Amino acid sequence: MNIREEFIKYFEKNGHKQIPSSPIVPENDPTVLFNTAGMQPLVPYLMGEKHPYGKRLCDYQKCVRLTDLDEIGDKTHHTFFEMLGNWSLGDYFKKEAIGYSFEFLTKVLNIPLERLAVTVFEGEGKIPRDEVAANRWRELGISEDRIAYLGSKDNFWIAGESGPCGGDTEIFYFRSNDEIPKKFDPEDDRWVEIWNNVFMEFYKDENGNISELKQKNVDTGMGLERIVAVLEGVDDNYKSSIWLDVVDKLEKLTDLSYEGNEKSMRIIVDHIRTSVFIAADPAGIKPSNTDQGYILRRLIRRYIRQARKLGIDINSDFDLEIASLIIKKYEKYYSELSENKNSVLEVLANEKKKFSRTLEKGLREFEKLVSNETKIIDKNVAFKLYDTYGFPIELTLEEASDRGMGVDVDGFYAKFREHQEKSRTASKGKFKGGLSGNSETETKFHTATHLLNAALKEVIGPDVHQLGSNITPERLRFDFPCDHKMTDEEKKKTEDLVNKWIEENLPVEKIEMSKEEAIKSGAECTFIDRYPDLVTVYKIGDVSMELCGGPHVSHTGELGHFKIKKEESSSAGVRRIKAILE
Ligand code: ALA
Repeated sequence: MNIREEFIKYFEKNGHKQIPSSPIVPENDPTVLFNTAGMQPLVPYLMGEKHPYGKRLCDYQKCVRLTDLDEIGDKTHHTFFEMLGNWSLGDYFKKEAIGYSFEFLTKVLNIPLERLAVTVFEGEGKIPRDEVAANRWRELGISEDRIAYLGSKDNFWIAGESGPCGGDTEIFYFRSNDEIPKKFDPEDDRWVEIWNNVFMEFYKDENGNISELKQKNVDTGMGLERIVAVLEGVDDNYKSSIWLDVVDKLEKLTDLSYEGNEKSMRIIVDHIRTSVFIAADPAGIKPSNTDQGYILRRLIRRYIRQARKLGIDINSDFDLEIASLIIKKYEKYYSELSENKNSVLEVLANEKKKFSRTLEKGLREFEKLVSNETKIIDKNVAFKLYDTYGFPIELTLEEASDRGMGVDVDGFYAKFREHQEKSRTASKGKFKGGLSGNSETETKFHTATHLLNAALKEVIGPDVHQLGSNITPERLRFDFPCDHKMTDEEKKKTEDLVNKWIEENLPVEKIEMSKEEAIKSGAECTFIDRYPDLVTVYKIGDVSMELCGGPHVSHTGELGHFKIKKEESSSAGVRRIKAILE
């Protein structure tokens, strides 16, 4: 049975229109690196905008989630997955939504009732316990013992910190040959969640205030990997039909068996698949040191490192063969894979070539510098590996953790900063090339944007932060929350403040640190969850500190004169500034 197709067929029969999967790199949202749920591209419609396909939608959406990166290698986690979903945009609500989920599971997929259980939102604050959902489940035949009420930690869903949200009801399946217990215990991991129905009727703003949305929506999500594994009766996702032939191929190509090498092999196939999808995305992502490009680079480097660990000849085409098989498996559903096949394979091959030299050299040095007795790798050793051999700190951490060693990471970063300061002084504040496609003007706009953000915080209030930013060689654009049109006086004050900081010729420091450190240091990091573990923070004198991929000038004095050209509304409660440097 092809579950993707059965799912769409079922919901089409029930009046839904299939919408195409959006690209994994969001088209109009600079605040997230990747789509992480089926609802993400639908946010404007959940908020009340009219969708051209109507009020009932369904799809399978490509998603990339990186929060679980360190879990990859176990039986159930993936960095890429597909989410099956159906939506009501102000049309049907709880009763019908639950009815559809129940019918699809029990009648189309033929899952026996006794293997199902549900959780329902217990309510919190002004939001009452969801008896409507619970009663609907009872009506459909779910026994009292199989309904658990849980609080907002488990049964209230939101993507990130703010946006449309609501209580949910989650459906669980008993995945074990043990006798099925009469009473459902959500803590018992033999019960696995297979489908989530979110009743999106609220909006949570940046300050955590909850208000009612214009319309009551339904947003559901069922992970394809999970449901396929459940139906096929395997407890290791990589043994389901989604992966079996891929793992088989890897075994053949490498003469290794999956058994005994599960962890590394799972990481290899998982990361190759995600890299293929990122590289094939219409956004044209290439490996780099920022944003999606950084993730792509990191994934490719991680699977190469695992391959080397297994003794696979990394100069062979094992990865390209796996990538080609993945393209073949998915191209029917995602046409960009076949359209961009050549460039995808080229991206993977080139990045491997670049990395394998660093890796070989770095590992040799690692072995030399680190002995078996080492417990904590000294900051000087970690820094030498990085500085002299180009061995990234992430790799040192991974190699160390494989050997049960620690790394003096704080010490490493301290040295890193010290070193940066030195090379900056050495270049006498002059900004030199290496801007990966950014003109000098755009670089200046990047820095000016940080200053503008900081100035607005002083003039408008501390709640100002970046909601969107866009830079062209002509101007910068900056969106921020603000409930009124800026007065001429506010605009003037903002310009004056930015120009004052420019005149002060403040140093712009680039600091790499762990996310934790970034949060601790008080850097502005609104969307920190969506960034990798190692982040770059730009500090401008004492006026600004922001998480950012850069690039930036080295001193604010390089910017010239800052001028606001336009201040207008971007959407409700959001103002937009366009500004130039003269
Ligand atoms: N958006 C919901 C989820 O991702 C359905 O679980």
